[in-house]
Amino acid sequence: MMVCEYKPGLEGIPAAQSSISYVDGQKGILEYRGIRIEELAEKSTFLETAYLLIWGELPSKEELKTFEHEVRYHRRIKYRIRDMMKCFPESGHPMDALQASAAALGLFYSLRDLHNPVYIRESVVRLIATIPTMVAAFQLMRKGNDPVRPRDDLDYSANFLYMLDEQEPDPLMARVFDICLILQVEHTMNASTFSARVTASTLTDPYAVVASAVGTLGGPLHGGANEEVIQMLEKIGSVENVRPYIEHCLQTKSKIMGFGHRVYKVKDPRAIILQGLAEQLFEKFGHDKFYDIAQEMERVVEEKLGSKGIYPNIDFYSGLVYRKMGIPTDLFTPIFAIARVAGWLAHWKEQLAENRIFRPTQVYNGLHEVTYTPIDQR
Ligand code: SDX
Repeated sequence: MMVCEYKPGLEGIPAAQSSISYVDGQKGILEYRGIRIEELAEKSTFLETAYLLIWGELPSKEELKTFEHEVRYHRRIKYRIRDMMKCFPESGHPMDALQASAAALGLFYSLRDLHNPVYIRESVVRLIATIPTMVAAFQLMRKGNDPVRPRDDLDYSANFLYMLDEQEPDPLMARVFDICLILQVEHTMNASTFSARVTASTLTDPYAVVASAVGTLGGPLHGGANEEVIQMLEKIGSVENVRPYIEHCLQTKSKIMGFGHRVYKVKDPRAIILQGLAEQLFEKFGHDKFYDIAQEMERVVEEKLGSKGIYPNIDFYSGLVYRKMGIPTDLFTPIFAIARVAGWLAHWKEQLAENRIFRPTQVYNGLHEVTYTPIDQR
């Protein structure tokens, strides 16, 4: 067997062949099925982009209508899921609530008919449709309120924003939110997608695939960074404090949240679009002083770390957009999951098409031939 060099974090090691998305980290290019994200952000919707990723091609008018219809009519969650969620501690993190709820869906649909296209389609629709309802339900129930029923007359993003506080959202907010979902839906072999593919490779059900990916997305080095960015901006508090804060991070070798990426060595193209969206919201709904702090951070980090290729990533500006929409900080990562579930499902389907179970090797650096010491001699 060929012995490869050990690479911490599997840096540069291909873990799969995929035609779903492509990143050029030097030029700052991201494509979904060959289409640049800038074009999709301008012209597409989240559900159309999800269809493109999962089924490989842009849908026809009829196909899109059918898909939107299916998602719309699967948005409701079973009362037993709601009852289960009511028992979750209100102080618990919404990502943990989402992971548990996504896994619990599998209890109701335990058939693992992975060769049946109808099962695949129904699972995709059910997960894309119900994940936002579960995120919104936990948000209301942890405040002691009943969840709001989905509204069939609202499209995907407007309905999610409506379910958060029973207010129909401003159309600009709903469109900006939909674009955010397009930007967060897919990103090659990131940690949560890798996790999804490993889980998928055992031929378990798609609910377990999504639950394991949600768990992986939540950490502060991955999707959880968007929450930490806002906490960091709150802690910095003013433009004058930015430089000393960054110098302190560099001295103590702590990570500056929302900066750096394994693949991008320039500003993440998604961060560029998100920054523009934040500016649109500030223009219509009022400025946010945290944006001044964020811009100063970008300037100082570029000055200090630009030569190392450390620039804002997707998580740097997404939080500012969601904050302007009045969304609580600890829902930022669950919203990332609402988008990314479609990317995970595209990888689930691709993994199943040419499956071989993931079973890498390791470099053993422990002991051998050690004798057992009886407990009273330790
Ligand atoms: C996402 O991969 C994806 O596709 C993920 C994602 C997606 O769409 O799925 O794009 C979403 O997860 C975005 C990343 C969110 N995380 C953060 O913002 C947390 C802060 N960033 C980092 O911790 C870091 O940059 C990572 C986790 C994003 C990348 O980690 P790597 O590739 O393992 O890089 P590293 O930690 O080994 O850093 C390499 C060097 C180090 O310096 P040296 O020791 O070589 O001198 O760069 C420095 C690091 O200290 N560095 C940073 C830094 N990021 C890297 N220094 C200060 N602040 C940072 N943020």
